[in-house]
Amino acid sequence: MEEKRENWGSKFGFIMAAAGSAVGLGNIWRFPYLAGTNGGSAFIIIYLGCVFTIGLSIMTAEFAVGRKSGLSAVGAYMSVSKNWTFAGVLGVLSGFLIMGFYPVVGGWATAYMFKSVTGLLKDASAVGDAFGAFISNPVQPLIWMGLYMVLNIIIVARGISSGIELASKVLMPALYVMLFIIIVRSVTLPGAGAGLAFLFKPDFSMVTGKTFLAALGQAFFSLSLGMGCMITYGSYLKKDQNLPNNAAIVVSMDTSVALLAGIAIFPAVFAFGLDPGAGPGLVFVSVPLVFAHMGAVGPILSFIFFTALMVAALTSSVSLLEVVVAYLIDQRKMKRVNAVIITSVIMIIMCVFASLSLGVMADKPIPILGVGAFDLFDILTDKIFLAIGGLLLAVFIGFVMKKEDLKKELTNEGTIKFGAFELWYNFTKFVAPVLIAIIAISGIISMKDKVALMLFGVGIIVVSALFSKKFK
Ligand code: TRP
Repeated sequence: MEEKRENWGSKFGFIMAAAGSAVGLGNIWRFPYLAGTNGGSAFIIIYLGCVFTIGLSIMTAEFAVGRKSGLSAVGAYMSVSKNWTFAGVLGVLSGFLIMGFYPVVGGWATAYMFKSVTGLLKDASAVGDAFGAFISNPVQPLIWMGLYMVLNIIIVARGISSGIELASKVLMPALYVMLFIIIVRSVTLPGAGAGLAFLFKPDFSMVTGKTFLAALGQAFFSLSLGMGCMITYGSYLKKDQNLPNNAAIVVSMDTSVALLAGIAIFPAVFAFGLDPGAGPGLVFVSVPLVFAHMGAVGPILSFIFFTALMVAALTSSVSLLEVVVAYLIDQRKMKRVNAVIITSVIMIIMCVFASLSLGVMADKPIPILGVGAFDLFDILTDKIFLAIGGLLLAVFIGFVMKKEDLKKELTNEGTIKFGAFELWYNFTKFVAPVLIAIIAISGIISMKDKVALMLFGVGIIVVSALFSKKFK
């Protein structure tokens, strides 16, 4: 029997859930280290440019497509044109790829909550080695990842309003409070000014084609765009909600958390003379180091920080799971519980490989591609798939959907105003696809291993095209 399709309970609940999806590891773990390795504020300016042009228009587009069809990614595309089913299928596949490494990092954050208060910070000189030893241990990260996944699975299994929405309504405001506590401590450290200068005084000498792709990829990743996630969330939205407005709120919240995370982290990094370009370990090494130098409050602040990180990650990975689960419910007519079980099993298998690829399997990269599972999933989604997904959506909006239908959807049948409609429409139709294509192509060309990665990417697209034939 078919289950009745759910709705978000309230506007606040939807915004918290959508912002909860957007705000995640992308903001607190990834954004600071990307900014750190790409020259600080120059990267941030390019990033903000991507977010408020391409990001905002694609977010609005995803909400419109989702709510209009009332279906998740695959069904939403298919309901307009059968030829476009592959774009939805590609989204679901990208969802699996992100789900294949996201909970690994979520597990690290969970572990660091407990490590913070159980002696990690006692010996500052050992913090760096402790991280390396932890993530390469064959068993420990898997146990924490398992714990983190159980929380995910419970929330998604409970459904939209009493699972995802409820969790987000509690966890998102808590996240802001926790970040503020850390910021107050960080910016009052002696020497914090250098960190703020790094964030806000642009140095364009480090900007290359790769910087633009990194910024664009990060914008898609951080805003949860390009794989049908916001299509799916939009599909549970009631018809009286103001879509452009909600998109602007979610984009602003996401950006504010990324900047707040930067303000929490960099002053402390500079105050203690640490390396801002430390890479993916930045949050897990530099931040505990900072707290290790703070005496008695250190473990408590550290616990708060990693709780914030875990909470942010949780409301995001829930949305990844939901994309696939919603597809199975809508298109395959499965019961929610069964859909969650099937999706979780695949997710767990992928994550085990991703986690082990950083330890016992580190010397056995995937043949031909030359990278481990963790890096492969990360690079493919962030650098290739999300951008392609965004590009396809923009073309779909501009050249497949009817302009009149979009206008009706975005103005709630003419009952509310969307003054920037023409601007949004023309930008999404003509400018966004061109910009995305230029940035993606120039960035991919400058990557090493590009041939193998591109072949692999094309392979997945072909598979999704073949797979989508089943729906015709
Ligand atoms: N936006 C999340 C983050 O910043 C990650 C995420 C959740 C995501 N759902 C997504 C990324 C869908 C791309 C697409 O951590």
